Amino acid sequence: MILLTCAVVLTFLTTGSVSGQANVTILDITHEYVPDMPSFGSVRGLGFILRLVNDMRNNSQTNNSELKMNVHSGTHVDAPSHVYEEYYDAAIDVNTLDLQTLNGPAILAEVPRNSNISAVVLQNFNIPRGVKRVLFRTLNTDRRLMFKKEFDSSYVGFTEDGAQWLVDNTDIKLVGVDYLSSAAYSSLIIPHRILLKNKDIVIVEGLKLDEVKPQVTYNLHCLPLRLHADASPTRCILIQ
Ligand SMILES: *[C@@H]1O[C@H](CO)[C@@H](O)[C@H](O)[C@H]1NC(C)=O
Ligand SMILES: *[C@@H]1O[C@H](CO)[C@@H](O)[C@H](O)[C@H]1NC(C)=O
Ligand SMILES: *[C@@H]1O[C@H](CO)[C@@H](O)[C@H](O)[C@H]1NC(C)=O
Ligand SMILES: *[C@@H]1O[C@H](CO)[C@@H](O)[C@H](O)[C@H]1NC(C)=O
Repeated sequence: MILLTCAVVLTFLTTGSVSGQANVTILDITHEYVPDMPSFGSVRGLGFILRLVNDMRNNSQTNNSELKMNVHSGTHVDAPSHVYEEYYDAAIDVNTLDLQTLNGPAILAEVPRNSNISAVVLQNFNIPRGVKRVLFRTLNTDRRLMFKKEFDSSYVGFTEDGAQWLVDNTDIKLVGVDYLSSAAYSSLIIPHRILLKNKDIVIVEGLKLDEVKPQVTYNLHCLPLRLHADASPTRCILIQ
């Protein structure tokens, strides 16, 4: 029995696949936290978010760091409490986001590079009913905005009519975008409020979509922290 278990473990180690299943490709669509990554509205970038509180150079037995940053930094999810006072008071925060929504089949949508995410753009996608998770790759990815320290307000995001069209005409419950805000800069709050009003849509912002292939249905896995906050950093991966 012990030998059998070892054999299974060895098979797993040598093929890199879960025993009995095909080899999977895992795509990391999370941005690295680095001081030079952009921070919403700032020209100075994210800056240093880690501080060593115990330092082995100073005779500590361990290196031990403290993390301090805005919860809307890097790849992160927004919760309904971000834009609704009553949801904030009711603690409808990142802890209440549905893990079923955060994990499951997802597709990539290529947003025409001359446009924000508007009703017309969404209409033209003809996203079938039943599709629950869509990652929107836009001009932001081409411009490598998430790799530029200075915040750029000309980024692409949802317009008000785009957000409303998505809510009214699709079954999408997870919206992924490739810069720090799901809403275009000219109207920041209203698209967020439209998407988060029913408390059933999860917004994932600041995704790294460079390597994602179109016309592939991936399994998306996003796991935000249970911070009881209006947003949380999240690791997101795609499994093909
Ligand atoms: C599994 O996939 C990885 C890359 O995605 C590849 O490097 C590796 O050779 C594959 N292994 C097998 C057994 O196919
Ligand atoms: C370690 O010592 C150096 C030099 O005294 C000091 O600059 C640094 O802040 C110390 N680090 C910690 C974590 O105490
Ligand atoms: C501990 O932190 C110091 C920086 O203060 C670094 O030089 C050292 O390599 C770290 N040690 C380990 C084991 O990571
Ligand atoms: C998207 O909207 C912003 C204003 O919020 C604008 O600066 C930008 O040029 C628009 N992008 C495209 C591709 O239309």
